[in-house]
Amino acid sequence: MVSPETLRRLGFQPGRIVETVVASYTGEGEPHAAPMGVHLEGWDRLVVRPYVRSQTYRNLEARGQCTVNLTRRPEIFLLTAFKGEPEVGKLTKSFFLKASRVEAPRLKEAEGWLEVEFSSREAIGGRGVFKGRIILVKAFHKPPQAYCRAEFAAIESIIHATRVLEFSKAGRRAEADRLARLIASYKALVGRVAPGSEAEKTMGKLSSILSRYGFNLQAYERLF
Ligand SMILES: Cc1cc2nc3c(=O)[nH]c(=O)nc-3n(C[C@H](O)[C@H](O)[C@H](O)COP(=O)(O)O)c2cc1C
Repeated sequence: MVSPETLRRLGFQPGRIVETVVASYTGEGEPHAAPMGVHLEGWDRLVVRPYVRSQTYRNLEARGQCTVNLTRRPEIFLLTAFKGEPEVGKLTKSFFLKASRVEAPRLKEAEGWLEVEFSSREAIGGRGVFKGRIILVKAFHKPPQAYCRAEFAAIESIIHATRVLEFSKAGRRAEADRLARLIASYKALVGRVAPGSEAEKTMGKLSSILSRYGFNLQAYERLF
């Protein structure tokens, strides 16, 4: 079992949801990745909850193994959440390496990763609940980073944007608009606190994706 101290140092703690990128193989053996919130149940079980309509759900069903990749880079969240959109492009094989102890890819650019094997799965309310054992943990040592609000705001915007598109598809325009308004205010914040940064470029791409789907952030900015 991986020690609680190791997991705690990486930001894990039972019940605490952390935002990661889950990487897995498709049924055809293609590497795949998507941002997912995960949490520990006790110190020895990791829980992933992909929507049943996601590719990640199908992969975990078929393969039962994945890596949970740790990063704080907005660009990586954007790339893996909106892969295939023209602003972002496809995830190429060069984005991945092989995990050591499970049959799953891992992200080359992650700052660390967990290798996980699932032992139970069920579907509750449109979401899969996969619970498994952490087999291996690897982390690179990085120098401390001064806190900037831009990364939080950009990653929060990417999460909201995935929901904007879901709400919009489901005809829930008012809920989509509420989130689009939040994204517009985060975009303004990022532009103010981190001009020229990776976070700002990421917000630019996100804004272009949203406008292609009928959510023009500039129109929301005028509302505040
Ligand atoms: C930070 C972050 C966390 C997310 N957490 C989840 C999650 O826990 N479960 C889920 O189904 N989708 C989650 N999403 C949305 C998925 O990543 C997104 O819908 C993705 O396109 C699903 O990809 P897939 O179909 O390739 O598996 C999250 C998105 C972000 C940006």
